[in-house]
Amino acid sequence: MKVFLETFGCQMNILDSELIEGQLKAAGHHFVASAEEANVVLLNTCSVRDVSEHKVISRLGKLKERKEKGEKVVVGVLGCMAERAHDELAKKRPFIDVMVGPSKIHDTLRLVESAFYEDQKKQRSLSYFIDRKGKTESALRSPLDDLEALDKKRQVNDRDVPWQAYVRITRGCNKFCSFCVVPRTRGPEMHRPPDAILDEVRRLAESGALEITLLGQTINHYFYEADGSSFSFANLLSLIHDQVPAIKRLRFLTSYPRDFTDEALDVMKESPRICKYLHIPAQSGSNKVLSAMNRGYDIETYLGLIERARSRMPNISLVGDMIVGFPNESDEDFLKSLDLLRQVRFKNLFIFKYSPRPNTVAHKLLPDNVPMSVKKERHRIMLDLQNEIALKENQAMINHSYSVLCEGPAKLDPALAGSLVQLGSLRKDSTRLIGRTEGDHIVHFQGPASLRGTLVTVRIDQATALSLSGTLC
Ligand code: SAH
Ligand code: F3S
Repeated sequence: MKVFLETFGCQMNILDSELIEGQLKAAGHHFVASAEEANVVLLNTCSVRDVSEHKVISRLGKLKERKEKGEKVVVGVLGCMAERAHDELAKKRPFIDVMVGPSKIHDTLRLVESAFYEDQKKQRSLSYFIDRKGKTESALRSPLDDLEALDKKRQVNDRDVPWQAYVRITRGCNKFCSFCVVPRTRGPEMHRPPDAILDEVRRLAESGALEITLLGQTINHYFYEADGSSFSFANLLSLIHDQVPAIKRLRFLTSYPRDFTDEALDVMKESPRICKYLHIPAQSGSNKVLSAMNRGYDIETYLGLIERARSRMPNISLVGDMIVGFPNESDEDFLKSLDLLRQVRFKNLFIFKYSPRPNTVAHKLLPDNVPMSVKKERHRIMLDLQNEIALKENQAMINHSYSVLCEGPAKLDPALAGSLVQLGSLRKDSTRLIGRTEGDHIVHFQGPASLRGTLVTVRIDQATALSLSGTLC
């Protein structure tokens, strides 16, 4: 099989795709660089917003045309859409050969091979969590041993970016924020055993990883109990930090604003190789909206956490998610969200226009009554404010030096390139490189391409709202 795998959405999907690729490669199949060259096209999909699904639908349209012309190509929809929109896809798009939800990815190879080598007309599909309601706890957990086995079999030696890796510590989510599909697509919150996580991090370090990002939907809820003893998120961070010093940068996402313990913040502060970085979605600055979102915290709790983090780590880099145009969000609510931005001063912010998702509580019970024109306007205002804040924060980094993990040659923003040529700092004989600081700031600098995958020190000379540029020390 010649396989093309395209990944949409979050870091969990990127990791799932790596595991799927490992599974198929171990069976001797090849991966190609474009859908046109492939006879198996797999789309690892995201359902978080309507626009995420539209991208996939348009890819599927092209694949349908190829099939109609008589080309033999196996089409697979993997990930959250295969779970959320399973029945609708099966009915409206019968040309899809394989559908595999996130809880069944360990079976991808079997299903895809059977579609490729056997009967082409039959649709093969596996999903599990969409009917979460009414299932017992043990029934909900039943696919998880197989998933754990897949994580354990991870191939660490053949990765495109050997110096960076994601490691899952928690699966699923139990929060049921009223707007979100994730608890229905990725199932119940479940924590992996600390020894399995440690073993995976060790293997990745031995294969050249310098930076590990631990993944979970509500990662600070990590908690593991076995044989009468318990293990907290703070314990897990210390364990990995102390036991695998070859990992020079340890970070984690996504944090949930409630139940973040002082103990975990203390471990972050005291461990030099844990990045002073938190991705901690607020979603709104209004308590009325937070309550309708079923987020389970108020803005005072959120700000209290930011204060607890900053009092320990004054330079901590904070990244947030905000939703604009949630049902019944008034101008006053929106202004409170802007106030939150001014108080927290995020390094970076992901701003989303509310998108009603089928079967979520918000979709069932609340009207999508903020017009699209208002959502767009609020999005623009919030982005302008965030850019203003980020520019000031970034300018404060000028003339300071930072450790940067070099990712290789950069695609240069033409505006920045123009100003750099004028300043005489862009020489033709060396490469423009890109890298990231511990706080995940993007940094451009000149240097040899051989620095790819190494840690270097860069002194910052210039800043925009989105990135920095500097000189190699
Ligand atoms: N804890 C998860 C959150 C998953 S969804 C994580 O690991 O990132 C990512 C972000 O998408 C959320 O924080 C939220 O800001 C946004 N989002 C989720 N559902 C949405 C919806 N229905 N409409 C708009 N934005 C949404
Ligand atoms: Fe979604 Fe809320 Fe969980 S945003 S992933 S239900 S914490």
